[in-house]
Amino acid sequence: MSSVPRFPFARPQAWDPPVEYANLRATNPISRVELWDGSHPWLVVKHKDVISVLTDNRLSKQRNRPGFPEMSAGGKLAAKNKPTFVDMDPPDHMQQRSMVEPLFDAAAVEKLRPHIQKTADTLLDKMIAEGCEKPVDLVEKFALPLPSYIIYGILGVPLEDLEFLTQQNAIRSNGSGTASEASNAANTLLEYIGQLVQKRLQEPKDDLISKLVVEQVKLGHINESDAIQIAFLMLVAGNATMVNMINLGVVSLLQNPDQLAKLIADPTLTSPFVSELCRYHVGSAMATRRVAKVDIELGGHQIKAGEGIIAATQSASRDEDVFSDPEVFDILRFVPKEKGGRGEDWFQGMGFGWGEHRCVAESLARGELEVVFSTLFQRLPNLQLTVPFEKISWSPPTKDVGITELPVTW
Ligand code: HEM
Repeated sequence: MSSVPRFPFARPQAWDPPVEYANLRATNPISRVELWDGSHPWLVVKHKDVISVLTDNRLSKQRNRPGFPEMSAGGKLAAKNKPTFVDMDPPDHMQQRSMVEPLFDAAAVEKLRPHIQKTADTLLDKMIAEGCEKPVDLVEKFALPLPSYIIYGILGVPLEDLEFLTQQNAIRSNGSGTASEASNAANTLLEYIGQLVQKRLQEPKDDLISKLVVEQVKLGHINESDAIQIAFLMLVAGNATMVNMINLGVVSLLQNPDQLAKLIADPTLTSPFVSELCRYHVGSAMATRRVAKVDIELGGHQIKAGEGIIAATQSASRDEDVFSDPEVFDILRFVPKEKGGRGEDWFQGMGFGWGEHRCVAESLARGELEVVFSTLFQRLPNLQLTVPFEKISWSPPTKDVGITELPVTW
């Protein structure tokens, strides 16, 4: 297989997806790629095939199975750890996922909305009071702390520890520190959650960790270390993606001032805007991987037991068979035709994955993004970047699309 292309493909610039995806959709929708370790998993790039892969229970998400496609040496090492539900198959997956699901459903998020709004307002008040003469990094002051504060609140972390923990989480995930600093920060977070689990075992409150402790640990369904791992998963799973989607949303609107004007004039466009944002910039595109448990047939190809499959949600979200002008960012895409939109189905966007592993916190993530984009430009209508689009600090081209720093004035 000497001519097999290396994967991940690189974005050619800024936020444009790798050009290979469009080529493969047209010519070779189910192909082989080569990973860092010389392995050759399948790459699936069409929307319909990605759905097949992500709903086929003959394919496994268990990373400890031989042949599971790992994206780095660090990933291969992490795959040896005891799994949480993100890396489990039925029935274990739903058994564990359902322990946290009620805290993230639409009703729970509606209840939380005033708190999300207040948190966004408080952060913006502080940012506005501190800055305005000089450029301010929107990531540090707003996009990073907002989602952290919300998830810490759900977990039950006391207010006074938020700033320190948010800092540790940033060191763990944003690549600014060395590998050992990142792993120290992860251990600090794990230790902290461990202590919180102990406290809630003694004295439960109304939060996620107490719920895990009272409904699961105390009844013997899971042990303390499982509770710590699940809480840690909830803390880290959505962190970088939330920060990136806020940043990408800000830049998408600034690059499309006519669409920004429409959004400011009509707040009912916030929800379709968020759907288009998550379709256009698939912020977590490397998670949707599987390994075959038995031989299967997919689109005329024989996939053997033990072979890995990567379902390219970023490519599926740009599939011309599903979306009209998929390369165009259009705030009206998911607005009904009778209201002047394209009338497309927002659920088909693959920003949150698909099937049983589709993001458990999608409602929360959408709720946070809706609050952000019905507040930020209303409060700061003259918000602008102080660097040109090309000079934005983009994530490395073979990693998930993201922005690490966003200097702004208003
Ligand atoms: C805009 C922000 C977000 C995006 C784009 C996003 C994206 C995704 C995607 C693509 C998946 C599917 C992964 C797969 O199939 O393996 C996923 C799963 C998951 N997400 Fe999110 N996510 C976001 C926010 C969050 C937040 C805020 C949290 C936590 C509070 C979170 C927690 C999870 C968890 C625990 C899973 C695993 C679900 C399962 O395996 O059943 N996500 N997310």
